[in-house]
Amino acid sequence: MNKFYNILNKENHTIEDIRYILSLQDETSIEQVRAKAYEVMGKNVGEKVFLRGLIEFSNICVNDCYYCGISKSNLNIKRYTLNEEEILDSALWAAENGYGSIVLQSGERNDERFIDQVASIIEKIKKRTISPSLPNGLGITLCVGEQTLKDYKKLFDAGAHRYLLRIETSNPELYKQLHPPEQTFEKRLECLYLVKEAGFQLGTGVMIGIPGQDLTDLANDIEFFKSIDADMIGMGPFIVHTDTIYSQFSKEYEQKKRNIYKLSLLMIASARLYLKDVNIASTTALQALYPMGREMGLLFGANIIMPLLTPTYVRSHYQLYNGKPCIDEFASDCYDCIINRIKSTNRPIAINEWGDSLHFQRKK
Ligand code: 5AD
Repeated sequence: MNKFYNILNKENHTIEDIRYILSLQDETSIEQVRAKAYEVMGKNVGEKVFLRGLIEFSNICVNDCYYCGISKSNLNIKRYTLNEEEILDSALWAAENGYGSIVLQSGERNDERFIDQVASIIEKIKKRTISPSLPNGLGITLCVGEQTLKDYKKLFDAGAHRYLLRIETSNPELYKQLHPPEQTFEKRLECLYLVKEAGFQLGTGVMIGIPGQDLTDLANDIEFFKSIDADMIGMGPFIVHTDTIYSQFSKEYEQKKRNIYKLSLLMIASARLYLKDVNIASTTALQALYPMGREMGLLFGANIIMPLLTPTYVRSHYQLYNGKPCIDEFASDCYDCIINRIKSTNRPIAINEWGDSLHFQRKK
């Protein structure tokens, strides 16, 4: 027990400490880690929760990630791309409802037309959402995959200022198992640097509970976030999608689910303890595993939540994993639901604020 308290009360943890924290099993110790992570969050970024309305504007994808429900070889889903007006409407709704920021996410495309369309919609959103309560318009985060430096720059110049690109796992061997040979770990890594070079605040993250992943891998993931100097972290449980090769793990997965959920929360706490002043999202995938998952993420040290804004009629076509919650709801339902969920944790909610990563601001 002494070892536990020694580690818990350290100001700065080593990666061995983090591995130890991830290995905790008993509820009392986990609760104490949670309380500590919450305290570190309060001291470094405050208790406020920031909203990013998530618009999944297209599920067309040129990639074939073996775990993902919208990979190009999944022929069972209907492909869609929202038109400009639909995206703009969703963004305006976010601005009118005090979100402060949105995330534009889609499957990956690398053609010029796609990049130009995204750049043009960013420009329009920025112009249309400037108001006295949002003097710089909505904050825009992008999540559209691996691109060239030139294209990252184009998207940054259009007005987006944060970018999410998960490394998925920092273990190159494991990365290889999850992706076809042409999607390399080296390329993903290079893109993370390009995202930063283009000027974006960098968000990255991993999936937790990938078959073959162990606690050392996860502790190394936390170290990786520090070494790449990430400003934002988005992590969630790996969840089997039945149209993927991982459907053969479905039974095994059911048995591991509880442990994966617990590990996901401990990863949020670990990221908070180790990185301190980054933004950390409590992701939807947590709620897919457990109805109160997103609230729990907030209690373990996350300070960002991403309510779904995608128009209801396409939501069911954007399922990266099975059991995605909220697919039959409207944006306003998600708003009410999220606000109540955050209130249940007694946290203040930021209205009309970008909520940029303090880590990024301090670096500058
Ligand atoms: N389970 C959990 N997360 C997934 N993602 C994709 N497929 C799955 C899955 N089956 C995550 C990846 C990707 C992000 C957009 O969604 O981490 O980077």
